[in-house]
Amino acid sequence: MPYYYTLGNIPHKRHTQFRKPDGGLYSEQLFSTEGFSNDYALLYHVHPPTRIIQTDEAIDVTPKIAEEKMLKHRSFEGFNIKPQNDFLKSRMPVLTNGDCTITLAAPKGGTENYFYKNADADEVIFVHEGSGSVFTQYGELPFSYGDYIVLPRGTIYQIKFTDENNRLFIVESHHPIRFPKKYLSKYGQLMEHSPYCERDIRPPQNLKTFDEPGDFIIKTKKQNQLYGIHYGHHPFDVVGWDGCCYPFIFSIHDFEPITGRVHQPPPVHETFETNAFVLCSFVPRLFDYHPQSIPAPYNHSNIDSDEVIYYVAGDFMSRKNVTRGMITLHPAGIPHGPHPGAVEKSIGAKETKELAVMVDTFRPLMLTQAALEIENPGYIMSWAE
Ligand SMILES: [Fe+2]
Repeated sequence: MPYYYTLGNIPHKRHTQFRKPDGGLYSEQLFSTEGFSNDYALLYHVHPPTRIIQTDEAIDVTPKIAEEKMLKHRSFEGFNIKPQNDFLKSRMPVLTNGDCTITLAAPKGGTENYFYKNADADEVIFVHEGSGSVFTQYGELPFSYGDYIVLPRGTIYQIKFTDENNRLFIVESHHPIRFPKKYLSKYGQLMEHSPYCERDIRPPQNLKTFDEPGDFIIKTKKQNQLYGIHYGHHPFDVVGWDGCCYPFIFSIHDFEPITGRVHQPPPVHETFETNAFVLCSFVPRLFDYHPQSIPAPYNHSNIDSDEVIYYVAGDFMSRKNVTRGMITLHPAGIPHGPHPGAVEKSIGAKETKELAVMVDTFRPLMLTQAALEIENPGYIMSWAE
């Protein structure tokens, strides 16, 4: 999906002999998330990436569904999710369907003694609080507040945080995460009207090759089971790679808002898309400048998608009682719009400092037990006053 990139040493011609200093062959691996029919990368390993030496019993990590069907506006206090020491244990799925899972996490630590691979889904990790680095076979991805860390499914990674204060909003997608098609030229360049461009995409850097024998466990998630798969050498043994399928970072702070004389619809905030949902960024921006404009959004039917908003920072002008880390869920089937008083209040406002991430799913979401434990009761009635 991103542009062509390369790091380290690769042979002049793909699929040809590429030899180590001792005369042995490096192992070539083609990595893609859609078979041989879309973007891919070629990686060159010191050891074959296939040398499994042990497999552990699977651990079931299926989200515990508490409400499969419902038709009510809901809101949740995301920061009430309890911090946990371990990165994987800290991940609490709150909303899920067959296409994606929305997860909150407050990890105090990263993946200390293991590697992680999500074989089910691409991951977008939005960093609300915290900083650190993600380490992959492609190199390192340093991250901080506001970053979207995009990891294609199958990427083996480790994550390390600078300190214990971390808050993450994670979307796992069973469909490849893409740049919105409307932003792309026929040949894949982000066009002039796009709210971001290739310069804003941060690819991996600082590729290090670990040629280390031992017992390295990759906790691999497949169909909501976590398998411990042990390899006889360090998985980050890549000397070079190239291609268009690799993890990268895009910061929400690099999203350039599109504004107008009158209210612009949510698609102007679109950041990533899949076949099953879109992800949008609401960022600080100047409001509409028609002399009679109403900056607050109009009520809308949203009959074809469940709308999830994750509130990051600033005042969110159309809603009351919004806290940092709050999630609202407006399911398809009932219209929603600004809270009472918000429309009048918005008139004359010049700008907003709001920062939020929205996920609109085309199929209904189910609520997990973890979601009910952090729910604000009575949200559905908050338009009644
Ligand atoms: Fe909406």
